[in-house]
Amino acid sequence: MSKLWGGRFTKQTDQLVEEYTASITFDKELAEEDIQGSLAHVTMLGKCGILPAEDVEKIREGLLSVQGKIRRGEMEFSVSDEDIHMNIEKTLIEEIGPVGGKLHTGRSRNDQVATDMHLYLRKRVVEFVGLLGKLQEALLTQAKANLDTIVPGYTHLQRAQPILFAHHLMAYVSMFERDIERLQDSYKRINTLPLGAGALAGTTFAIDRHFVAEQLNFDRVYENSLDAVSDRDFILEFLSGSSILMMHLSRFCEEMVLWSSTEFNFVELDDAFCTGSSIMPQKKNPDVAELVRGKTGRVYGNLMGLLTVLKSLPLAYNKDMQEDKEGMFDTVRTLQGALQLFAPMVETMKVNRDRMRQAVNQDFSNATDIADFLVNKGLPFRQAHEVIGKTVLYCIQNQKYLLDLTLDEFKQFSPLFDDRIYEVLQPQQVVNARNVYGGTATIQVEAAIARAEQALEQT
Ligand code: ARG
Repeated sequence: MSKLWGGRFTKQTDQLVEEYTASITFDKELAEEDIQGSLAHVTMLGKCGILPAEDVEKIREGLLSVQGKIRRGEMEFSVSDEDIHMNIEKTLIEEIGPVGGKLHTGRSRNDQVATDMHLYLRKRVVEFVGLLGKLQEALLTQAKANLDTIVPGYTHLQRAQPILFAHHLMAYVSMFERDIERLQDSYKRINTLPLGAGALAGTTFAIDRHFVAEQLNFDRVYENSLDAVSDRDFILEFLSGSSILMMHLSRFCEEMVLWSSTEFNFVELDDAFCTGSSIMPQKKNPDVAELVRGKTGRVYGNLMGLLTVLKSLPLAYNKDMQEDKEGMFDTVRTLQGALQLFAPMVETMKVNRDRMRQAVNQDFSNATDIADFLVNKGLPFRQAHEVIGKTVLYCIQNQKYLLDLTLDEFKQFSPLFDDRIYEVLQPQQVVNARNVYGGTATIQVEAAIARAEQALEQT
């Protein structure tokens, strides 16, 4: 059969042009959504009296039969039919005859493809919110198991103040919560129906866009037909939300790579989530964490790619916009892979509590607390800072930690010291002293876990 749009042409399409312009190799991923949209469209054509009931019935049955063929893997997609929309329409006409040609009444591929992508991303948002929830659950499990694990907290990657390891993990729970919120917020715009916009100006047929929206569970329809077929903001939002999510994952990956190094030795990743070296028999590499960190680049790239495709494009549809799909599919696959692996990797991670504790005892991360001690005795903070700076320098020069100093040594730096400082300096005390909403004190972290569990139940 010739092209569905062949009427105006006197020549065959050049073979290379056909291959260059076709999108079927990748947009066949939209087959389910395309049929779902067509079923709603043809039902509406019947309801509005644009097509007789028997034609609607034949087309519906035909679409379901094409759907079966695709699901069974029996559909032969052809490059000469360009894209998923025309492949399906062509097969429909082959199956039920010329009546199949009535399906496209009052519709254009421009509003059709936009509809397919809205349907596609709507499912993905639900899927990713679920996967992020699973990841939060894994983090909460580890956090609950590590409520008494103290670890150095860092700034500039230098030991800063001791914190609960649970507190550190809960920071990621908060980050992923924002990712969930961003996805949920983008859902409003994803869940807007473009169909009925026609090629760009609307259609001469008395269609009912709101009826289609209702059938497909869209909350609303696009206000403006040009905007409906030109808008790809909803994909950009998905790609930017995905980029931020990958950035979060990459920071976590980086920490896991560092923590599992011999230098840190804070955690051990499960064998199932690591790989070996083909030459060095002793190696156990954190490949999954490294690869998720690396794949962050392609997700950013997909966002930059689409922003650049859309830059300066005149309204309404332009063929450039066909370039919106591969980056979106690639991002979906990259996120699926990363999120599916991340939750069990976190859950099975072994935490080396002794090593963390040892690290906390062998540093000066309790220095702020003796400064605060002097402040409580009436010394201005700036002066207390100076006194403790000198005390730390003395310790370094004499190869001691603060807890190793005698009270006499302390008193050389300030007469305000008394033996209560030995309690103040204990890591657990240092942690629990930060009893502020959102702080690292055990009771605050317990409360944060309870709030996160409640939020998780509500998503
Ligand atoms: N395959 C096309 C795309 O993804 C479908 C829309 C084509 N519309 C057109 N007027 N050529 O963008």
